[in-house]
Amino acid sequence: MYAIAIYNNKGGVGKSTLTVFMADFLASLVIRDRPLRVVVLDLDPQGSCGTALLGQDTLEEARRSGLTLGDLARRLDAGQPVAIENYLHRRPATPVKGRATAIGEVAVLVSDKASGFAFEVNPLHRLTTLREKLRPFLATRCDIVLMDLPGNIDERNLLAVNGLIMSDSVITPVEVSRFSLEALPNTLEMIRYARERGGGERPFCLGMLLNRADKRGQQYQRNIGQVHALAERLGIPVFENVLPNAQTLTAATDDGSLAGSLRERYGHYHAHVKAVVIEAFRRWNAVEG
Ligand SMILES: Nc1ncnc2c1ncn2[C@@H]1O[C@H](COP(=O)(O)OP(=O)(O)OP(=O)(O)O)[C@@H](O)[C@H]1O
Ligand SMILES: [Mg+2]
Repeated sequence: MYAIAIYNNKGGVGKSTLTVFMADFLASLVIRDRPLRVVVLDLDPQGSCGTALLGQDTLEEARRSGLTLGDLARRLDAGQPVAIENYLHRRPATPVKGRATAIGEVAVLVSDKASGFAFEVNPLHRLTTLREKLRPFLATRCDIVLMDLPGNIDERNLLAVNGLIMSDSVITPVEVSRFSLEALPNTLEMIRYARERGGGERPFCLGMLLNRADKRGQQYQRNIGQVHALAERLGIPVFENVLPNAQTLTAATDDGSLAGSLRERYGHYHAHVKAVVIEAFRRWNAVEG
């Protein structure tokens, strides 16, 4: 199992969008005759990822039932017996002709403000609970864990920091704008903090992924030099593949009840997501040696 956190401390840069794209794409893959098993941890109480993958109704039902990540973390932390399986809310596969473009099954662990807050107000809660108690469970049931983190977090966000500490590596979506770049040192600081508190060298930085990048656009041309200079100074790689800006994509991440194949849902954008995921595979193979 490999766990990737999608994290930039800046808000609105495409963390949730990238998480959903990657989840959809990875879940559509069949490796050695078996679909890749993908679990998404929606660590953001806003629930963008949960909405996109499960649909609003299922997300609300999951929250009403109290089967949320905050509740799970609290129980695991207290050493209470808990059936983790019940916390995995499933987005079923959409059967279509031709396996390669099918929408695969994804399991989602959802957050809500109340349970996240209940976990976070207690400073005694441990930062390594998810890594110690959730990760071994997931390791036997899935191949890839993707985590959508909220923006604007700090050391007090115990649930989000738990997520970072549980992850093997981080992908940081950024927009090619000055505002987006300003949050980078802070983002890397949080990743370092997670590494330090986790007591090891994980999570690794897989790199910055340029989102809404229009290579021919003025903003891109004006700022791309600065992006690479900053990345070099901070010692963080930049993905060669980018995710272009595509207004039509909002529908793809709007509501999990959307049907259709991967290609119907993403159109030609499918190729960009594929290229990014393949590059991510290559990068994590490189850092894992
Ligand atoms: N490549 C893209 N092309 C067009 N629109 C995009 C793209 N990426 C993201 N968006 C849009 O930008 C908005 C912000 O994206 P998203 O919610 O994924 O960011 P975020 O980093 O998760 O934000 P937050 O910090 O609030 O969680 C959304 O409306 C999303 O649909
Ligand atoms: Mg988000």
